[in-house]
Amino acid sequence: MEIKSIDSEDLPTNTSQNEHFQSVVNRAINRRGFLKFGSGAAVATFLAGPLAGCGSSDPVPSLLGFKAVAANALDTVTVAEGYTATTFVPWGTPLFSSGAGATWGGTGSETAADQARQVGDNHDGMHFFSIDGTSSTEGLLVMNHEYNTTVSTTNYLTLFGPTPAPANTLERVNKAINSWGCSVIHIKKDTANKWTVVKDSSYNRRITAATPMQLTGPAAGDALLKTSVDTTGTEVLGTFNNCGNGITPWGTYLTCEENFNNNFGTTVATSVDGRTVSMKRYGITAATSGYAWETQIDRFDYKKEANESNRHGWIVEIDPFDVTSKPKKRTALGRFKHENAAYAFTKDKRVVVYMGDDQADDYIYKFISTDKYVEGNQRANANLLDSGKLYVAKFGNGSTTGDFMGTGEWVELKLSSIPSSYTTYTFSNQADVLINARLAGDALGATKMDRPEWVTVHPTSGEVYVTLTNNSGRTVADEANPRTSNIYGQIVRWRETGGDAAALTFDWDIFVLAGNPTVTANVGTTKAGSSNVTADNTFNSPDGLGFDKFGRLWIQTDGSYDNSGNYANQGNNSMLAADPVSKEIRRFLVGPKQCEVTGLTFTPDSKTLFINIQHPGELGSNGSNWPDGGTAMPRSATVIITKNDGGVIGT
Ligand code: FEO
Ligand code: CA
Ligand code: CA
Repeated sequence: MEIKSIDSEDLPTNTSQNEHFQSVVNRAINRRGFLKFGSGAAVATFLAGPLAGCGSSDPVPSLLGFKAVAANALDTVTVAEGYTATTFVPWGTPLFSSGAGATWGGTGSETAADQARQVGDNHDGMHFFSIDGTSSTEGLLVMNHEYNTTVSTTNYLTLFGPTPAPANTLERVNKAINSWGCSVIHIKKDTANKWTVVKDSSYNRRITAATPMQLTGPAAGDALLKTSVDTTGTEVLGTFNNCGNGITPWGTYLTCEENFNNNFGTTVATSVDGRTVSMKRYGITAATSGYAWETQIDRFDYKKEANESNRHGWIVEIDPFDVTSKPKKRTALGRFKHENAAYAFTKDKRVVVYMGDDQADDYIYKFISTDKYVEGNQRANANLLDSGKLYVAKFGNGSTTGDFMGTGEWVELKLSSIPSSYTTYTFSNQADVLINARLAGDALGATKMDRPEWVTVHPTSGEVYVTLTNNSGRTVADEANPRTSNIYGQIVRWRETGGDAAALTFDWDIFVLAGNPTVTANVGTTKAGSSNVTADNTFNSPDGLGFDKFGRLWIQTDGSYDNSGNYANQGNNSMLAADPVSKEIRRFLVGPKQCEVTGLTFTPDSKTLFINIQHPGELGSNGSNWPDGGTAMPRSATVIITKNDGGVIGT
């Protein structure tokens, strides 16, 4: 998310002296001497080399078969010609036909108990699980509900109806708690070929910020995870700030806990703020939090329950097909502000999970399981994410063998590897290394990145792509630094050595440096973007990212929708598609006003695409009435996209 009123991810908490990714890029660019920028279509060949193995001069047919959509600032979803976009399961949609939450009144006047049985708020990462593995007409749509905006904002108040009282009562906090987390929604095409919710399905489930879940893996039971309520350090209530997602090859859903720090504060008055080194590194602010949950529930008060925040910031595995299953927080994957999770296999079939930590100057990680995946053996695969090694990325500027820009290495987060010269924090054991993965990354010299958002793996080449959304706080300019104040972001990719996800070295490249060539002052500078950025596709702040099975790269944005100044001609946040070989990028869809476009998943036949529109009208003041129109309050919602001729999306 990009909370315009907080922007907590923009403020680095990383005080280490580790090298910044941009410095690495600059050296590589200077060494190879191919950083050239121009204007409009006449831009030079920056980063335009073909993918290795694709160096043939034969023309490659483009993966992009649709006509580009022009940027706009309309309060609607605009999709490419020949496609239809249909709103689905907005916030408040009932999942059950009787009892609490069976109706949506239209004004947000529902209670906390109602909300616990309705679709949550601020839709984000999402996956369609076919009901039988092959059906494209019935399945479980599982999605994240990331957050609400803070107590002081109009958007938050819409959660409670048209005439909200000012007090932040326990009922209100509980309603907020129940609007976060995940939804598991049984959906099916009806006889009119229209997607509908199967109300009262035994699969329908809400997982909230209060649902009991289990801490598993190497850190479970550690002293740092114990609280006054849970003296075992293994049972925790809730998941929240569920941002991007992932899936596993064995058919479970991974929900990723991002800005958990925003939910912890204190009401205990003292002249000392009482935060530990760890709390500060994870961005917990002193005094009252924006959501003020700690004013009603003690576990969110970091002075009353110092370890509660250690129990959040994990990746949680959910079995969507077992409504009684307890979600598992997988501590082997490390604790940080998780954006999403993308899996791959090593050549010997161990499971790799790539992950980004979304904060300015934070890191990219990968996990490699100890044990191998066994096709068709769910029991053998069930706990693969509980044992393995966690690595953090170091991007260097060494010579590559192909056309990529530099080399990198994966450094294991291991207690015995923490240098004795590192004195900021003392790790007591390996569990501590996982709980404080950011600090371990600092100690091990990981490379500071420009806010890592989604990671995705190419379906055949295995190359990994990551969105680095922006790092606008970078103000130190020098001759070797082309992107001070990185307001537009970029997409970086890497290729593991030997094409094996188990490799501990890689080559990296920049796939696109976002920019705006229509801003006169940008022309001839890096702010115009790389050569695949044009006046037609200009965008800022790439965030959601995913390959479809044909290798089309889908890019979603969560950035400025000012549509003026540096962002002129970029319109509302949007979704684009890219061809990884030709590097062409084309806008496919534009979202409504003041929204973020996020989450993407396809039916197995690739003929239905589901995306999410998060926080339309987030600035309040009647900024949007999407999707209900008229004077209705704006609501986050899913959008179903189909091709009018029934074809594959993107063709
Ligand atoms: Fe929740 Fe980094 O976006
Ligand atoms: Ca995001
Ligand atoms: Ca974002």
